[in-house]
Order: sequence, then C-alpha cells, then structure tokens
Amino acid sequence: MADLSTTYMGLNLPSPLVLASSSLSNRVENFQLAEQHGAGAVVLRSLFEEQIEALDTQLQEAMDRTTTGFAEAQSFFPRQTVGPHEYLGMVGAAKKAVGIPVIASVNCNAPGSWSQYARQIEDAGADALEVNLYAVQADLRLSGADVENRFHEIVSSIRETVRIPVAVKLSPFFTALGGTVARFDALGVQAFVLFNRFLQPDISLEKLSLKNDMSLSQPGEMLLPLRWIAILYGRIKADLSASTGVHDATGVIKMLLAGATTVQVAAALVKNGIPYLGKMREGLDEWMDKRGHGAIGDFRGTLSQRVIRDPGAFERAQYVHLILSQNV
Ligand SMILES: Cc1cc2nc3c(=O)[nH]c(=O)nc-3n(C[C@H](O)[C@H](O)[C@H](O)COP(=O)(O)O)c2cc1C
Repeated sequence: MADLSTTYMGLNLPSPLVLASSSLSNRVENFQLAEQHGAGAVVLRSLFEEQIEALDTQLQEAMDRTTTGFAEAQSFFPRQTVGPHEYLGMVGAAKKAVGIPVIASVNCNAPGSWSQYARQIEDAGADALEVNLYAVQADLRLSGADVENRFHEIVSSIRETVRIPVAVKLSPFFTALGGTVARFDALGVQAFVLFNRFLQPDISLEKLSLKNDMSLSQPGEMLLPLRWIAILYGRIKADLSASTGVHDATGVIKMLLAGATTVQVAAALVKNGIPYLGKMREGLDEWMDKRGHGAIGDFRGTLSQRVIRDPGAFERAQYVHLILSQNV
C-alpha cells in the first residue's frame, strides 16, 4: 500500500481526499464516516454572511427596543460574543469526533465582521478556515477592480486576525485569474480552493417562473479546475485544492498530476454516500502501486504547465491548433 499522506496548509493529512463543504458536512457522524473511509480532512458547511447579518439585525432590534438604553443593552448582548452559536458548537463537536483536521468555512461577499467571527471559529478549535468568496456581481456600476479590492479587504482582515491557516475558495469568473490569485497569495494565505460552483437559476416553462434546483456537478466540469491548477502549480506559495467535478479515482489522480495538494469531493458523495470515498482512495492506491509510486510527492505536479514539454497546451495555443485542425 502506497503512502497517501500529504501536508496541506501545513497540516498533516493521512490522504489528499477531503470531504468538501456541503450538505454532508454538518453532522458529526458524517465526519467520522469520512475519516473511516479515507478522508484526510473535512470542511464544514459554510457559515453564511446572510446568517450573520440576520443575527446582527435581530440583535440590533432587540437593543433598540430595550427600555434600559443602548449602552446597557450592549452589555447584555456584547457584539463580540454574538455569533451563530450552533456553528461554533459544530466546530467543537467535529474536533472531538475525529482525528483528521477540521476546516471551518465562511461564505462571504462583502467586508463585515468577518475577522471577529474568524477568531471565534479559531477559538472553537478549527484547524484552518476556508473563506468562500461567492458573489454574482450584478451591480453594473462595479468594475472588476472594485470587486477584487472588496475581496482583498475581506481576506486581508481575516488573515491578520487568525493564526490558523486560511484557504481562499474562488470562482473561475475573474478576468485575469492568475493575477488575482497572485494578489491573494501575497497576503500569505495558505491555500486556494479552485473552484466554487455557482448555482444557476433556470426557468420553468410550465410555471413561467424561476427554478432553483440544486444540480450536482458532472465529471466533465473538472477540466476547468484541472487547467488552472496545472497553470498555477509551482508559481505561487500557497497550496492548491481541487474542487468541482471529481467523481472517481481517475479524477483524483489527474488533479494530483496537475499539482493539487488535496482534492475535495461533494457531489460524488451526495450521490453515492460517504463510504464511496473508500473506493476513490483504493483506486488512487492501486494506480500508485501499478506505477511504482511510493508517495504522492513522487508524481504531484508532474503534468503541470511548468513541467510538461508543451506549456501552450494549457493556454490558447492548443485551442487554435484544435480549431484549425477540424475539417468537417
Ligand atoms: C449540497 C451542497 C451543499 C454545498 N454547500 C457548500 C457550502 O456550504 N459552502 C461551500 O463553500 N461550498 C458548498 N458546496 C460546494 C462544494 O463544496 C463544491 O465546491 C462544489 O459542489 C463542487 O464540487 P463537486 O463537484 O465535488 O460537487 C456545496 C455543494 C453541494 C452539492
């Protein structure tokens, strides 16, 4: 059996497989099951900006209503201790339940009280924090630079506040993704999770209304993160974690060859159950044995852009070649 252990964000993981932040990652039993079946770490479901805002609004209203005055009300509800307590409880419970690293997650879009919550999450025992920057920028007055500056502000305030490693989970929708990643990298974040996956509303022709179904990823979707992991590998300080479209061991192996340190899985486990992680681990292990790889480090990044003989394959050159060679 090959050695599947890896170091991610400075944390020691028994395997590169990670239970991604999802509907599965909100129960202690699921974390235990994931560990049992080969997960190297678990990412908790996210604490959403909207949850915090809702809580802050309720709190504000309670303070405004009180007859004892604002200052005194503040001492009843000190802002720095307010937070979605269930989330902090879940972090603590997960830490007690498993031996693998527990990565908490916040999902945000605008600067706010993130550093305060990040510190509480750290105090609750999380080994690391994943910051999911999820926003559909529908404001026509905003430029790309405005949005990136806002994201930069969020990550920078969190990075300055906590001592635990911080990962940034990004969407692929940036004009110059490499430059954006390099800018975050300079803040000293420890990993990038590529990519988060936006839910896209559809239209129901029967009801003439919007449909917001939770559609799961397809394996073909892994090619986008695969390309960007291959491009970024070895060119930034932070680790790379693959997310989207990894549905089996072959997907895991490809992501590692491109340069991923860890591979996160959500849809495949929602579809097949958490024990399916064990099959993915077995497939990776068998492939490594067959190729004579004793450890992940023997082959990680060996098909990344800096290593392969035709680096243009990850960029425009391949596109031009393929288009011009089609003779239908
Ligand atoms: C049901 C479900 C819930 C999810 N919840 C979260 C979440 O709370 N926070 C987050 O960062 N990502 C969340 N995700 C996104 C996944 O972590 C992952 O990035 C995405 O599903 C792509 O990976 P996959 O192809 O393995 O599903 C969720 C995904 C699913 C399917």
